Amino acid sequence: MSIFSRSLLLSAIITLAAPAQQPIPEKQVEKRVDSLLKQMTLREKIGQLNQLFVFPQPVPGMPSLNDEDIAKGDYGSFLFVSDAAQINRLQHIAVDKSRLHIPLLFGLDVIHGFKTVFPAPIAMAASFDPATVERAQAVAAREASAAGVRWTFAPMVDIARDPRWGRIMEGAGEDPFLGSAIARAQVKGFQGSYIGEPGHVLTSVKHFAGYGAADGGRDYDSSYISDEQLWNVYLPPFHAAVEAGAGTVMSAYMDLNGVPATGNRFLLTDVLRDTWNFQGFVVSDAFAVRDLVTHGFAKDPADAASLSISAGVNMDMGSRTYIDNLETLVKEGRFKETQIERMVRPILAMKIRLGLFETPYVDESATKSIFAASEHKAEARRAAQRSAVLLRNEGALLPLIQGRYSSIAVIGPMADSFIDIRGSWALVDDPTQAISVARGIREKVGNGVRVETAMGCEIRRNVPSMFDMILGVKRGTPLTDQQNTTEIEKAVTLASRSDVSVMVLGETQDMSGEAASRTSLDLPGRQEELLEKVMAIGKPLVLVLLNGRPLSIHWAAEHVPAILEAWYPGAEGGHAVADLLFGDANPGGKLPVTFPRTVGQVPIYYAHTLTHQPEGSPGFVSRYWDEPSSPLYPFGYGLSYTTFKISNLKVENHKVSVDVQNTGARAGDEVVQLYIHQKSGRASRPVRLLKGFERVTLAPGESKTVHFTLTDDELSYWSATDRKWVHDRSDFDVWVGSDSNATLHGNLSPVQ
Ligand code: BGC
Repeated sequence: MSIFSRSLLLSAIITLAAPAQQPIPEKQVEKRVDSLLKQMTLREKIGQLNQLFVFPQPVPGMPSLNDEDIAKGDYGSFLFVSDAAQINRLQHIAVDKSRLHIPLLFGLDVIHGFKTVFPAPIAMAASFDPATVERAQAVAAREASAAGVRWTFAPMVDIARDPRWGRIMEGAGEDPFLGSAIARAQVKGFQGSYIGEPGHVLTSVKHFAGYGAADGGRDYDSSYISDEQLWNVYLPPFHAAVEAGAGTVMSAYMDLNGVPATGNRFLLTDVLRDTWNFQGFVVSDAFAVRDLVTHGFAKDPADAASLSISAGVNMDMGSRTYIDNLETLVKEGRFKETQIERMVRPILAMKIRLGLFETPYVDESATKSIFAASEHKAEARRAAQRSAVLLRNEGALLPLIQGRYSSIAVIGPMADSFIDIRGSWALVDDPTQAISVARGIREKVGNGVRVETAMGCEIRRNVPSMFDMILGVKRGTPLTDQQNTTEIEKAVTLASRSDVSVMVLGETQDMSGEAASRTSLDLPGRQEELLEKVMAIGKPLVLVLLNGRPLSIHWAAEHVPAILEAWYPGAEGGHAVADLLFGDANPGGKLPVTFPRTVGQVPIYYAHTLTHQPEGSPGFVSRYWDEPSSPLYPFGYGLSYTTFKISNLKVENHKVSVDVQNTGARAGDEVVQLYIHQKSGRASRPVRLLKGFERVTLAPGESKTVHFTLTDDELSYWSATDRKWVHDRSDFDVWVGSDSNATLHGNLSPVQ
């Protein structure tokens, strides 16, 4: 090595004692990347594009880890290693033994917490509170980065309007405006104020794009999305995340309009880089590069590598398709080395920005106290309180009055489950630390109250979950029908001798999430029968739902007096649910997704267009003859233990204001929501579109004026006729209220 290149190398890996406290100037980043690239062999460059899965134990059929390959520079990144000691060990090989000492980037799905498990993303969106979302992801980032995980595969911002799709749980629901706000908050929480801020992690906004529209709600299935829907509904949260500074993007698995997202030049280059000016890098979803062959898009793995890299995928997650094929492609002259360099550049730049060259290792001794921080638990509990949605509360059964009940039955397959309360992306926590609903109630009411549990019935998937398959988990034999009948009887007996029943029903944590689609939205197993039998006793009954998707609970919605949608509320979920049930917290969450009456209404969402006379009007002809077309619960819906009055709507120019008053006797939160409708123009626009929201906390009697501004962005849309963003000079209806059925109405005319 010449003295010149050696000094360049040294400047590239210059070691500082402390992590960067401010962003490294971009000029410096560029210089360091240039210097590295000059010294890298073709193989080393391709190595940077290669990411390997490292599972806790070898998984059949998956490439396995080999220390010598790290030293050779064959890997740029690992995913699924989450232990500080293991990360340090692997990093030492890369930094000490590889020729150019380029550190590895460790990534993981830190979706709703790392050691401290927060509510599932759909729940966090239900908080309608970006500040809470940001704080939660900042906690997750702090814990993950302490362990050496510097990159999260989040936020997942796929709009989903089909609750059969299990991954609806991982996103912010059906609405692009809410989805964009939550996406921005997540990027800010995870990444901090700049990429490389200590205690923060790099984000990967996913799954680019259109994964949420999977045909039939079947996970991984193709999406067919019109250009109008793509630009107006599916792309905005990605754009918001990119504008907020998301450093990486993950390309999706499925075909979008017939072209696999991971080989989709339109998405990855035309939209992402050329239109949005994205400067970071793209990682494929797991094995998606290899699977271009499965799609019938690439003729063989070499073709897959070539198509995917040309479309704009920098890093191959897991499939080894790049590392096994690109070198030959370049040597045979089928691919230019400069094209590879272009793909390596943003990866090296990101490693530099993250300060990995300066601080490749983590302090293993510091992790314990960070993971155990009591403020992290408190934050998770608060987030769970804020994300619950009160769906029904007849006769003000809730909050339960402490001291009124001397015995409480907590019934249901998840009543005392500390596993399910966490949701599906809880990968590295200690599940035994999670608080079940029964435990939360016990701790709340103390020894003076008899709290007993009964499972009522068992619920199971009929096929193993993805994680069970990967981790080789074997579950015991399911209960027989007779055994379930006996469990139901035991539960009914318990409820009969208790003053009140809290039923914890829904879906186990492996029933929502990846590879967890369903054809039904009913309560799985015999839970509905259980519920109806316990209800028939005639004693007070509260239903707490743990689930990641809207469920068709139409019977409960008519018969069960109190229903609290708790989603998967995370490790502090039991505490938060007990706080809510007993009035130490007041529910203020709202539905980020429409609840259908039945699966047959799917897809159903509030922002539809009007193409015929609306239901209730004189010219209305029924759409379904067996059900109304309206949902069970609309988007934005949620009750409180207090009441609010929203009045005095003023619409002047593009400024909107309303007064909101707490008219009840308890402090509580209302989410004031602003919807608009464009009355005419170059396209028929949805009957309502959310364009503003604010969650306010009010003491009894207190009032507040809430202000919104409708900017040009909010009044524009992508026109399929003009194939660009347009702002029609139209009148707009404006509604402000507490859900998407808001009735307080005003009119916005074009500014003259
Ligand atoms: C999922 C991604 C995830 C990746 C790595 C894939 O199966 O679709 O969302 O980030 O695995 O775990």
